[in-house]
Amino acid sequence: MAKTRVLTGITTTGTPHLGNYVGAIRPSIEASRDTSVETFFFLADYHALIKCQDPQLVRQSSKEIAATWLALGLDTDNALFYRQSDIPEITELTWVLCCSAAKGLMNRAHAYKAAVQANTEAGDDPDHGITMGLFSYPVLMAADILMFNAAKIPVGRDQIQHVEMARDIAARFNHNFAEVFTLPEAVVEDKVAVLQGLDGRKMSKSYNNTIALFAEPRQLRKSINKIKTNLLEPGEPKDPDDSTVFQVWAAFATAQETERMRAEFANGIAWGEAKKQLFELIDAHLSAAREEYHRLMDDPSHVEAVLRRGAERAREHSTALLARVREAVGIGPIR
Ligand code: TRP
Repeated sequence: MAKTRVLTGITTTGTPHLGNYVGAIRPSIEASRDTSVETFFFLADYHALIKCQDPQLVRQSSKEIAATWLALGLDTDNALFYRQSDIPEITELTWVLCCSAAKGLMNRAHAYKAAVQANTEAGDDPDHGITMGLFSYPVLMAADILMFNAAKIPVGRDQIQHVEMARDIAARFNHNFAEVFTLPEAVVEDKVAVLQGLDGRKMSKSYNNTIALFAEPRQLRKSINKIKTNLLEPGEPKDPDDSTVFQVWAAFATAQETERMRAEFANGIAWGEAKKQLFELIDAHLSAAREEYHRLMDDPSHVEAVLRRGAERAREHSTALLARVREAVGIGPIR
């Protein structure tokens, strides 16, 4: 029996932070070793253009994200790891899917609706500053998914709607032309921790409360010292379940270490001491990968070679699928 295909994309904007690591990178790297499924991970660099018009930033982010995933041990023999822009079939398929996707469906996309609402509230034209890229974003994402007949799509909650749209577009195409596409399903891991940031809200670039994944030890220590705490003194019992320091600790510690820290909180550990231990835990956890990351960043030829090989493997699938799509819709040589 064919293995289930699992696929997910990483938009290449920004530098990976601890929240990305715990919420997406770490589980994906574990999944990359699972030989009972076929996994596809890719850098969604054409998606980056929707949010980011700074070429230098897009370039830098692609490099950082690829080096991060490799440094942390992504299994690129088992999983396919590639760059969206290396698969021209994806953008070609996007157009074909645009001709199957209902505009009304796109009107309901959360990201587009939020932009329209912001404009309306500001008294601007509803479509002020909204590009066709933002509006058609779900179609490009549908092409990413449908291109490889992926069945399971691990995503955050904010992306469920997009996967459902891909399913909708696929069903419509299959109905109108031929049964070409697998209908994908979003998979949202409930177990995966959503890490809190420096201010206690979800760690996110948009809140500016992140801790960089591969910060130098000095910087990492500084960031951890900035985590918001209450004013309880050393010796006063502290509530671990109300503490970002503890929450981040639990995301990196073993069950046993977590129980020990819980007891230390009850015993009134000083915030300074708890943060010192947190720094040591994270630093020990990441230091080998950080070294490898810097090595890859200084000599990116290895990263580039891995991505090229990934693209070659991916294109074996994508060229075959696109041929079927073109045949189905009547595009091709005159016979
Ligand atoms: N849009 C996704 C995000 O911002 C990234 C993405 C692009 C993706 N293409 C995808 C995720 C295909 C899953 C499948 O998080």
